[in-house]
Amino acid sequence: MNEITPVTNAAAAVAPKTPTLPDAQTVTEVKHWTDRLFSFRMTRPASMRFRSGEFVMIGLMGDVNPKTGKQKPLLRAYSIASPSWDEELEFYSIKVQDGPLTSKLQHIKVGDEVILRPKPVGTLVHDALIPGKRLWFFATGTGFAPFASLLREPQTYEDYDEIVITHTCREAGELTYGRELIESLKDDELLNEVIGEGFWKKIKYYPTTTREESAKMGRITDLMKSGEAFKDLGVEPLNPDTDRAMICGNLAFNLELKDMFEEYGLEEGANSKPAHYVVEKAFLD
Ligand code: A2P
Repeated sequence: MNEITPVTNAAAAVAPKTPTLPDAQTVTEVKHWTDRLFSFRMTRPASMRFRSGEFVMIGLMGDVNPKTGKQKPLLRAYSIASPSWDEELEFYSIKVQDGPLTSKLQHIKVGDEVILRPKPVGTLVHDALIPGKRLWFFATGTGFAPFASLLREPQTYEDYDEIVITHTCREAGELTYGRELIESLKDDELLNEVIGEGFWKKIKYYPTTTREESAKMGRITDLMKSGEAFKDLGVEPLNPDTDRAMICGNLAFNLELKDMFEEYGLEEGANSKPAHYVVEKAFLD
């Protein structure tokens, strides 16, 4: 259940294919992390620009309508997990066995086509926050995706002295995608050169599980309320003078954190009115 299924394919092995679907892109890599989670990479349209942390609509063609004989695209919002400078696009997805899209999407293979509407939007962007010293990323489950983008975005380290990433999942295996991504930053020659050698030392990673034994158990919200998370991390509770935050998780999590932030005195920001924190919901099937 918690081991990584090695289904990686080398991007180099993919022969370019002429897209046959509207806005089609070609899958270049698929990795299955658990029986509930997978990530994949695909080609990126040359003209597509986005800000790290944004999301796009992606999907597949739906079933043929027996009455009309026609097929319609089945699209869902997905946070882009790759940074804005990456020449490909990466996504991190849940697998829902009876989900209209992910029941099919989980079976994609290298060389397959995925529909991408190249119109990125979203609030988990640096532009929606006012300057601060410490940036917090709060994720549950696949809510880690936009932070996988922002953790590889040079501006994150240019704008802040410290980055704290908390990730709460049910089981330990669900943390692997995020943990490996953070580990890989240490050896990323390009980022160490562009941002500065040892940039990754600014990251404090705080993974927790709620339904399976791990080094740290509990919901991040409870661990913050009790003060345990701040003690473990060696930082003070969030404060509007120094702290900025981005939230991406399930609805109950987003709402609970919002309430907590308002108590800390933080105000919600938006692209049109930057402030102390921003919220996005994880996009589940
Ligand atoms: P729990 O197992 O206690 O429900 P899900 O898979 O349901 O989206 O949940 C992902 C993770 O988010 C789980 O570890 C879950 O904990 C946690 N979670 C769910 N709701 C909240 C909440 N309101 N505050 C903090 N964590 C939450």
